[in-house]
Amino acid sequence: MTDQIQTELAGGVLTVTLARPEKKNAITQAMYAALAEATQRARTDDAVRVLMFRSEGDSFSAGNDIADFIAIGSQGGGQVIDAPVFHFLRALADLDKPAVAAVRGRAVGIGLTLLLHCDMVVVAEDALLSAPFINLALAPEAASSMLLPAVVGHQRAFEIFALGEPIDGRTAMAWGLANRAVPADQVDAVAADLAGRLAARAPNSIRKTKRLMRDAEHLWALMLREGEAFGSQMSSPEAMEAFMAFSQKRAPDFSKAG
Ligand code: COA
Repeated sequence: MTDQIQTELAGGVLTVTLARPEKKNAITQAMYAALAEATQRARTDDAVRVLMFRSEGDSFSAGNDIADFIAIGSQGGGQVIDAPVFHFLRALADLDKPAVAAVRGRAVGIGLTLLLHCDMVVVAEDALLSAPFINLALAPEAASSMLLPAVVGHQRAFEIFALGEPIDGRTAMAWGLANRAVPADQVDAVAADLAGRLAARAPNSIRKTKRLMRDAEHLWALMLREGEAFGSQMSSPEAMEAFMAFSQKRAPDFSKAG
């Protein structure tokens, strides 16, 4: 079990903290396994009324650990359904209790797409949210190919995916990705207040409401379809070029890709 994911249950709120600040909370396989376990616990443990995601350090999450991408990609990529990330995605799709996120700094890749599975999102006004899957020659995940355009519209979602440039917290709020945009030093407190208020609501009513608002099986089926595109891209020459470029701190060169 990794100590880079920390959990604490208080007042019916299970708080999950990403705690790998020196790597901007990039998420490793071990961290996905711990996230999956915590999210499953949130659904099955009657003591948990609300799940809250937060982070240590100056970033929410830099997304999937790119060293893990290189390792998986060099082993052939392929369908990665048995990978811990898929256990986490399944748990997110199945979660029928409220989830809240407290987002400061960078939220990249799954750092953003995770927010699409949260019911209330608090962002710092100066947070920077991005989903640069195409910069890494990958494809959208976590049902974001449907959920992101559903929230922000096709053109904005396409730009977020294809250009990979970040939007700030105020824009995220204006585009419907967040409930509150507040100064960075207030994010945790505002999110904790919302989580506490949700935890006091009638638990069965709130679960039934969330279940009516989302179709878990539809989300999971889409996650699997996305996983095929993502998995086959992961071992592609263009993705390996993108991963190596990140490791070597240079821009990728896709001019020879075909
Ligand atoms: N995987 C692995 N390591 C990562 C990482 C990731 N996704 N994101 C950041 N890190 C590491 C960096 O390699 C660096 O490690 P080092 O100190 O050993 O060199 C450390 O975290 C700090 O990152 P750095 O890039 O120096 O910080 P920054 O403030 O200049 O930039 C980001 C922050 C998030 C903008 C930048 O790190 C980044 O673009 N990361 C990749 C994001 C990404 O593409 N994720 C995958 C999405 S699918």
